[in-house]
Amino acid sequence: MFSVTQPAGGVLLAALGLVVPRLSFASLSVPDIPHIAPYFGTKTRYEEVNPHLLRDPLSADPSVLRSPPAERCSPVHLTAVIRHGSRYPTIKNIRRIQKLSELVRTEASRSSGGSEDWIQDIRSRWEAWYTEDMDGQLVAKGRDDLRQLASRLASLFPSLLSEENVKNRRVRFLTSSKHRCVSSVEAFQEGLQRHWGRPGESQHSVCVRADTEPEYSHEVDDELMRFFERCRGYVEGVENNHTALLEVEKFKHGKEMEGVRRRMADRLGLPHHRLTPDLVEAAFFLCSYELSIRSVHSPWCFLFNETDAKVLEYKSDLKQYWKRAYGHEISSLSSCPLFHHVFRTLDKAGRPPSVLVGHAETLLPLLSLLGLYKDQTPPTASNYPSQHGRRFQTSQIVPYAANLLFVLYDCQRGPRLQLLINESPVRFPGLEEEDAPLYRDVRATYRHLLDGCDFHRECEGRAVGRAPNTEL
Ligand SMILES: *[C@@H]1O[C@H](CO)[C@@H](O)[C@H](O)[C@H]1NC(C)=O
Ligand SMILES: *[C@@H]1O[C@H](CO)[C@@H](O)[C@H](O)[C@H]1NC(C)=O
Repeated sequence: MFSVTQPAGGVLLAALGLVVPRLSFASLSVPDIPHIAPYFGTKTRYEEVNPHLLRDPLSADPSVLRSPPAERCSPVHLTAVIRHGSRYPTIKNIRRIQKLSELVRTEASRSSGGSEDWIQDIRSRWEAWYTEDMDGQLVAKGRDDLRQLASRLASLFPSLLSEENVKNRRVRFLTSSKHRCVSSVEAFQEGLQRHWGRPGESQHSVCVRADTEPEYSHEVDDELMRFFERCRGYVEGVENNHTALLEVEKFKHGKEMEGVRRRMADRLGLPHHRLTPDLVEAAFFLCSYELSIRSVHSPWCFLFNETDAKVLEYKSDLKQYWKRAYGHEISSLSSCPLFHHVFRTLDKAGRPPSVLVGHAETLLPLLSLLGLYKDQTPPTASNYPSQHGRRFQTSQIVPYAANLLFVLYDCQRGPRLQLLINESPVRFPGLEEEDAPLYRDVRATYRHLLDGCDFHRECEGRAVGRAPNTEL
């Protein structure tokens, strides 16, 4: 759909004959990133977490691989759990965006703030170009996210993600059935082929040509990648439980969000009561989508300063915490099948590298099961002021193309395991002295999960009504 891409900074020009605001063109010449871009939660670009990629999207840093030098280690296995790349909004947000732009077009007062260009841009030049058929699909930038990640990982692990291994089907590709994930796993393989085929050539200036259409291979596995929707205890206890996200609801109507809403209404000259918290969030997401999809600094971004953005980020973090992470234990336990899959693969030395593509909803429960990014005090609707330094910050953990790497090394003292999250080393809770502890120590740390963490017991055992088990 988007056919023209431009190398500098991954800047993307939408060739759709859209009504593009004047401001966007101005911003294309100078890559101009909104100040609020690092706070978009799960809608954050990967580049906000790794800003050096804006200059060189293919640069891989071998110093992140940290096995003890004295033990002459070499990587012998890689399992990568990867989130899909940048995508279109889903239908729910497309409808909110349409509602918001309609409201601003018809009701924003023409007298307020009229001297500022961006307000004129929103009112008269910006058009809601998102249509419902785009529903969550991967965008061109999202393909780049995965191609470039593949290339960097192939540079870091040349013996594992090698051309020979992939050709001989000695790399396993598993994906969620969702379109954006299947497209992502294909883009990842494209990235590998470009990495081997045309070293040094810029990856994002070329469209895939029909005559070089690569062969893809992947298996769809929703039991592993979409475990959450198959876990009855999770679906009934959290997903369909109206009180499970109480903290989020309270925060949405609390004083911090009220402040953001009031300021946004004032800036737009809208009657306060017409702007709901959902529409405030729609404007924030709109700024994120225009950046992640089209690489433009949208006029909608000017509605928020960093203080506002941090409040909106916290709202997203609260939601992920209570819906997908530590808020309810069943959320992390629902990822037991994926946990066991990873450790079974690690247990058998010589297993082929595994590339697993899923969702933020796949990664967050697994990261929580592993005990990562856990704060002493849970985030709630009332403790925002004390949560500034929290670890659980989804903008940093699960941006688009987020990835969790398990790297197994063969070393003189035995196998060692290292975790990387978004290509940075992260230490195992309880084994903080080393980047790559002995694998047997990691196994001892997770003994209770390795010997337990039974999906059926956790997910069916907690169900309120016990209907016959028809799944799996
Ligand atoms: C719904 O969530 C609340 C709050 O977390 C919890 O106390 C309650 O037990 C849950 N209800 C069900 C049916 O699991
Ligand atoms: C954002 O605006 C509010 C209200 O005008 C102000 O109190 C706050 O200090 C601003 N924050 C930043 C980072 O400029």
